[in-house]
Amino acid sequence: MNRSVYLNGEFVPEADARVSVFDRAFLMGDGVYEVTSVLDARLVDFDGHLARLQRSCEALSLVNPYDRERWLAIHREAVARNGLTDGMVYLQITRGSSGDRDFLWPDPSQCPPTVVLFTQSKPGLAESPAGRAGIKVISLDDLRWGRRDIKSVQLLYACWAKTLARQAGCADAWLVEDGLVTEGASSNTYLVKDRRIITRQLSRAILHGITRSAVLRLAREAALEVEQRGFSIAEAQAADEAFITSASMFVTPVIEIDGVHVGTGHPGPVVARLREIYIEEMRKAAI
Ligand code: PDD
Repeated sequence: MNRSVYLNGEFVPEADARVSVFDRAFLMGDGVYEVTSVLDARLVDFDGHLARLQRSCEALSLVNPYDRERWLAIHREAVARNGLTDGMVYLQITRGSSGDRDFLWPDPSQCPPTVVLFTQSKPGLAESPAGRAGIKVISLDDLRWGRRDIKSVQLLYACWAKTLARQAGCADAWLVEDGLVTEGASSNTYLVKDRRIITRQLSRAILHGITRSAVLRLAREAALEVEQRGFSIAEAQAADEAFITSASMFVTPVIEIDGVHVGTGHPGPVVARLREIYIEEMRKAAI
């Protein structure tokens, strides 16, 4: 692959996109990120992702170096330069490098952020086999830190959980705290019971998914009831249907949890319909 990657103000070949070993994201996980999906070479819910980026930056006193127009121009240029049709744009802002290792946050005026943005090509993203056939998940204790609403690059436990899931023949892990599911390792989680959608309420315990927000709006518009509260693994296993949402998986059915079939063990009608509506609406509104 020879992508054109954005780094601190310019596009460079990926082999030349180099960052200091003292960069605080490399040493401390001190940075935030966003993943925006691309359909038909257009950005899905760009403004939602940008708003969350701003919130993540503010929560960590990180400087967001660009305004909306600049970010949009960089996203579009990355898509165009890399001939991206379907896939994702990944962006990361780190607290930069002060030239040494130090726990203390440096003065931002002395230490500009590092900005990286690159594309990932996923041809046929909206027609993925997982989206049609559904995925299996395992449950794990949620051992992450207490500010999961900040989209930080500190993803050690998410990677660990995903790897344990893969080793168990599953595609994701549902994380459990105090008996209730928080979210997936890289997704928000839902069950459907009697045509009512149940998903955990927003708090610091979960990432405020951009896909989640759009899906709940579309579900209400489709006359489905939405209840925001925690649920257990047992309740999800006994549901009619279950699903996850994320920018890269859209709405994806969950057909098995810890080896137990959800509903019939096949994707159900409510989730299939929500997926269809979501992709249709997002394609239309993409910029
Ligand atoms: N992850 N919860 C977690 C822990 C996540 O990492 C993600 C997304 C979500 C869903 O958020 P959204 O709908 O805004 O993508 C929820 C992205 C896709 C990733 O890390 O690749």
